[in-house]
Formats: sequence, C-alpha cells, structure tokens
Amino acid sequence: MKWNSKLYDSKHDFVSEYGKGLLEFIPNDKNQKILDLGCGTGTLTNEIASYCQYVLGVDGSKEMIEQAKITYPELEFEVGNALKMSYESQWDIVFSNAVFHWIFDHNLLLANIKSSLRGSGQLICEFGGHGNIGTIETGFKNVLNSMGYDYISKFNFSTTEKFEALLEKNGFTIDELFIYERPTILKDGEKGLSNWAKQFFASDLANFNKAEQEKILLELEKQVKNMLWDGSNWVADYKRLRAIAHI
Ligand code: BEZ
Repeated sequence: MKWNSKLYDSKHDFVSEYGKGLLEFIPNDKNQKILDLGCGTGTLTNEIASYCQYVLGVDGSKEMIEQAKITYPELEFEVGNALKMSYESQWDIVFSNAVFHWIFDHNLLLANIKSSLRGSGQLICEFGGHGNIGTIETGFKNVLNSMGYDYISKFNFSTTEKFEALLEKNGFTIDELFIYERPTILKDGEKGLSNWAKQFFASDLANFNKAEQEKILLELEKQVKNMLWDGSNWVADYKRLRAIAHI
C-alpha cells in the first residue's frame, strides 16, 4: 500500500494519539536504545526520544520517512522492512504501534525482533487483534459480494493464542498479552467512514469506476450505520492486541 503521509497525519493522527498509552510501558532508563518499528511520520518516535539515550524510527514507507525527517530533523529515521532487518543484539526495547497487523509472517517478525534485542530486552507492541474492524470489513465484503467481487482481507488480526505461541516459540517471556476493545472516532463527521475506507480499501476500490465507488461507500455506510454511527461521528470497532514481553 502506498501511504499518503499528509492525509495520514491530518485524518488518521488518532493512530499515534492512542499509541501514547503504550509509552507508559517504557521503563525509565535514560541509557536505553529503542527501535520504533513502523514509526510512520515519527510522532511517537519523538515522544520516545525523551525516554532514552537513542531512538531510531524505521518504516517501510519512503513517503512516511521523508515526512518524519522533515518534522523531526534532530531525530534519526530510516526506510526499512521489519521482515528483512538484520540488527543483532542492538536494542533494549523494540516498540511498535499499529503496525503488526500489516505483516503476515509474525513468526519471522518475532525472530528478527528477538535477534535485534540485547540483555533482557523488551518488545512493547500494540496492533489490530482478532475481530478488529470486524463490522467494517464484513459490511465492505457484503457490499462487494453483491457486486460480484470477492473481498480478501489484507490484514493479519491475530488472536492472543496465536501470538502467545509465536512469542514463546521465539524465546520471549510474556509480561502482558490481551485484546481490548478500543472504539475509535473517525475524523470528519459524516465523511469519516468513507474517508477511512478510501484510504484503507483503496486497492479494492480501484477495481471500480468513480460512480461504482461512490455507490459502494454509500452502501457500506447503510450496512454498518446501526452499529457504528453515534449520531455525530462514525466510531470504528477497533480491537487492539497489546503484548509486552522480554527475552
Ligand atoms: C488499525 O489500526 O487497526 C487499522 C488501520 C487501518 C486499517 C486496518 C486496521
């Protein structure tokens, strides 16, 4: 997926806003070195900087990293792929917010993170867990099915059981692991859901012409209105899997 860093910051900045809750799990140790994996435009990397000696923000998107470097010129950012990273015993903490549900191979991901940690290094992460955006995805799938198109999810919303097994297989000891519901208001009032769908279902919508796309988005709104419209805003049914683990 090609990320639009400007749109992301103006419409989806709740991603980093909510991620701030995860920062409180970072121990208070000024000597530590932290990797912010999937740092996006660097909002949380900038917060993490006050908890440590050194933080590096890494993201797979060139556009996001360019924006991060412009916004926070004093910090270090790199384009990088979590499945190809080859850090060895380098980090005290790998931190990641709202990223792992984009990665299908959680086994390789956790193996890479394990190798990258030193001492009794920690993984502090949160991402979409099992059932995340279930109402939105089901609604979208139903609408596309009715138009003869098969929707295949592009997300890996893990269960706690699967993630627990992979953490243990890769040599982690689990400190916290749970899924919680985090209903999330989408910005822009009535347009919130269609804006969200235009960004995150872009590759599916691209198979349709403009008029069909408008119809799909209207149908999606109709399908999920009872569950997700609170009278003023669309409230997405986000479910977060939070994991804190050490080696
Ligand atoms: C999430 O953060 O849960 C998410 C964001 C975009 C698409 C799907 C899930």
